[in-house]
Amino acid sequence: MSNLHVFDHPLIQHKLSILRDKDTSSKVFRELVGEIAMLMCYEATRDLPLEEVEVETPVAVAHCRRIAGKKLAVVPILRAGLGMVEGMVAMMPGVKVGHVGLYRDPETLEPVKYYFKMPPDIAERDAIIVDPMLATGGSAAAAAQFLKEAGVKHIKLMSIIGAPEGVERMHAEHPDVDIYLAALDDHLNEHGYIVPGLGDAGDRIFGTK
Ligand code: PRP
Ligand code: URA
Repeated sequence: MSNLHVFDHPLIQHKLSILRDKDTSSKVFRELVGEIAMLMCYEATRDLPLEEVEVETPVAVAHCRRIAGKKLAVVPILRAGLGMVEGMVAMMPGVKVGHVGLYRDPETLEPVKYYFKMPPDIAERDAIIVDPMLATGGSAAAAAQFLKEAGVKHIKLMSIIGAPEGVERMHAEHPDVDIYLAALDDHLNEHGYIVPGLGDAGDRIFGTK
């Protein structure tokens, strides 16, 4: 699929192998989610437009390039997306952060919205939605829909692990949204968990199970 990018960088793949391990502690899990987000951010922002600028060094004028174009917002889907924010902000210190609160109904697996708070100028920004898991795609599709309703024109989705079902749903509902993953896994199980996946990302980040 043209709008799906799966990063095979060795550093990302190495960290992902530790993240998946059921014996990895919450502390290390949290750190790895942040580090992987930082590395993925570096790759997912490759297409940001640049403009020529002249900078006076102590020696002479240097012809340099700086990021131009629309400002960005990082939009974590609560809770687990919070784990990716620090890594993104480390790469892009000026970025604004908007929050979407969603949980999956355990019976229907459909997302339930409980929070939505964006920077006031969100309609003038491009958005990168972050959530470690893209399973059925219900949460990411809903987040993208809320952002479009708020006026955002250009949206990217960054997840650490995706399932084919989630990618297909995003492709069907939001074909304009580029998807960035560290891994595309095999399938969803009967509880909507990604197989092999890494379990419940929120619980592992926050130690709630
Ligand atoms: C998890 C995960 C995603 C969602 C993915 O959140 O962080 O947001 O499931 O599943 P989907 O693609 O089928 O929608 P969860 O609902 O467990 O909430 P939490 O982050 O608060 O634990
Ligand atoms: N949410 C998770 O945290 N893990 C999964 O495998 C699926 C949804």
